[in-house]
Amino acid sequence: MSLLSASLLGIEFANPLLNASGVHCRYHDELDALFQSAAGSLVTKSCTLAPRTGNPEPRYAATPLGSINSMGLPNEGYPYYLDYAQRHDHAAKPLFMSVAGLTLDDNMQMLAAIREAARPVIVELNLSCPNVPGKPQIAYDFEAMDRMLEAASRVYAQPFGVKMPPYFDIAHFDEAAAVLNRYPLVAFVTCINSIGNALVIDIEHESVVIRPKDGFGGIGGDYVLPTALANVNAFHRRCPAKEIIGCGGVKSGAEVFMHLLAGASLVQVGTALQEEGPGIFARLNAELAELLARKGYANPQAARGKLRTL
Ligand code: DHB
Repeated sequence: MSLLSASLLGIEFANPLLNASGVHCRYHDELDALFQSAAGSLVTKSCTLAPRTGNPEPRYAATPLGSINSMGLPNEGYPYYLDYAQRHDHAAKPLFMSVAGLTLDDNMQMLAAIREAARPVIVELNLSCPNVPGKPQIAYDFEAMDRMLEAASRVYAQPFGVKMPPYFDIAHFDEAAAVLNRYPLVAFVTCINSIGNALVIDIEHESVVIRPKDGFGGIGGDYVLPTALANVNAFHRRCPAKEIIGCGGVKSGAEVFMHLLAGASLVQVGTALQEEGPGIFARLNAELAELLARKGYANPQAARGKLRTL
């Protein structure tokens, strides 16, 4: 076991880092670049039954503090990612597949097909896509979320994870965790997706910066780090039988370490990967290794959940 090795669902990872779904993972060549990078694993773009071109451009913009996007689920359709999973070397690097059907039935069709393919792909069921006009997020409707997890558990019938949006109220942490805890096959929880429906304004042009939804979109990067850490820690505390994947505001080894302390087993990189490219993983690993050594932790798992309260 090396200084950086990590684990999730009993699977070993060379290190805890991977991309956040949506970044550098729509096409096979982008996934190949992640495979070739220093990331410990990788996740595919959230997929739907049929291919989608997504929302009109510009649909992503970087700002000094992060990013805003309203991509609208551009993806090649689930068979394209299942095909990638069929040819992927899972022993060399674990592969997650993000699933974001537009309806419960769409998700069940995809989960049945993934189960049928019988490859060691790890499903991350996206309950938090904020960017399809006219579609509310499943995870902000606890009854819909319960129905989705009941059906997914029945149809997929093996361990999977869920991608969650941020919550901002303790009562919502409690209720969301209670729903997740009803489903033992929900083995991991990824916190967080972007903070949805924010608005970035460019004062020079007195304008929004992305075209879809009158400029409204999900934000990531520095804007979201404390919210991400709170959600990681809230679900780590409330879901002791589940593992947590942290996502939000990671741009150096310091934020990776914060996510570990809050309770994450693995850590995803979104905005910073989009801005810096897959070379970021070698830098983050080096920074994390230096930090863990300086702090006297033998590996990332040793730091997991070690956050102190006052
Ligand atoms: C998109 C954005 C998300 O945050 C998500 O979870 C899925 C899809 C998108 O706009 O493509």
